[in-house]
Amino acid sequence: MVRPEAPGKDTKRQRHAHAFPPILHVELTNECNLECPMCARTTSMTRPVQHMDADLFRRIVDDVAGRGVQKLWLHHFGESLLHPQAYDLITYAARKRDLGLVALSTNATTLNEANARKLIKTRLHHLILSVDAHSDDVYKVVRGFDFERVLNNVRGFLALHKEMESKMSVALLFINMGIKRHELEAFKEAWAPYETKRVKVVIKKMTNYGGVIDTAQFTGGQSDTEVYDRSRRRSCPKLWDSLTVQSNGQVVACGYDVNGTMPYGNAGDMTLLEAWNGGAIDDLRERHVALNFDGLPLCDGCDKTFKKRRSAPDDDLI
Ligand SMILES: C[S@@+](CC[C@H](N)C(=O)[O-])C[C@H]1O[C@@H](n2cnc3c(N)ncnc32)[C@H](O)[C@@H]1O
Ligand code: SF4
Repeated sequence: MVRPEAPGKDTKRQRHAHAFPPILHVELTNECNLECPMCARTTSMTRPVQHMDADLFRRIVDDVAGRGVQKLWLHHFGESLLHPQAYDLITYAARKRDLGLVALSTNATTLNEANARKLIKTRLHHLILSVDAHSDDVYKVVRGFDFERVLNNVRGFLALHKEMESKMSVALLFINMGIKRHELEAFKEAWAPYETKRVKVVIKKMTNYGGVIDTAQFTGGQSDTEVYDRSRRRSCPKLWDSLTVQSNGQVVACGYDVNGTMPYGNAGDMTLLEAWNGGAIDDLRERHVALNFDGLPLCDGCDKTFKKRRSAPDDDLI
């Protein structure tokens, strides 16, 4: 196993391999009802669409409880609330003891009153509502759905959240991009009255998902090469702190690996501890420590492995 003192050029960012990954992503489904242009699912996903088998999901949850997981995300590349047993499975994870923060991001398109009530009743710990725009025009570009319906769903959800005295923390998400930065302040202002101890506006930076998103089309011209110096590399922190299980059970190192090109195995045949301690992950970490991304196109093109130019503005790219 690669230890922080392992030789390599990446000495400034020493890595510590946890006994078990503190961050886990379990993809309930890779189905989605939207085609957001900045999402790797839209641009690059070729694997078949499938819902995770409910028994497999429960086995994973049982397997990882008590292992020191700090955050369990119940989405990856898909809209988890489209899984036919979504609310039961979320309930199962959220009520499991010793599992850290159980969290989910949704595009809120299906969150009508009945579903909002069901979601609150799951006792999910943390929810991201990807509102992501302040006008119909911008929403059409980045999400391509009925903005008014999503706004109604989100407002309705927040009203129920208050009425039911839910303890769930809620993030109202806006991904910061040059093409919509002009509405960032208006977005914050519009949602400020809804903010409470548990409800917050969150501004997120954009990623290029391992190079499959051309970020320049969203920054308003500025390409990631202007922000990143591709000659200054770093190893990816994700390899030392997270694992992802895709809806077909495949375990992957990287949450950006939309097609599972770097598999560690399948959760149907192995425990996640076995995947975490397997040879494939050691090999990948060693290559990152040596900053050798040959034959790893996903890592080679990923903004997580580039260092920012010193002159780069604090902008909308990670
Ligand atoms: C792939 S989505 C899946 C969850 C759900 N369908 C949704 O949209 O919230 C996971 C998260 O990534 C965000 N996202 C999509 N494209 C992104 C990008 N290029 N950079 C950063 N975050 C992005 C979404 O807003 C969401 O919070
Ligand atoms: S960001 Fe979410 S809603 Fe949009 S295409 Fe990706 S998975 Fe679907």
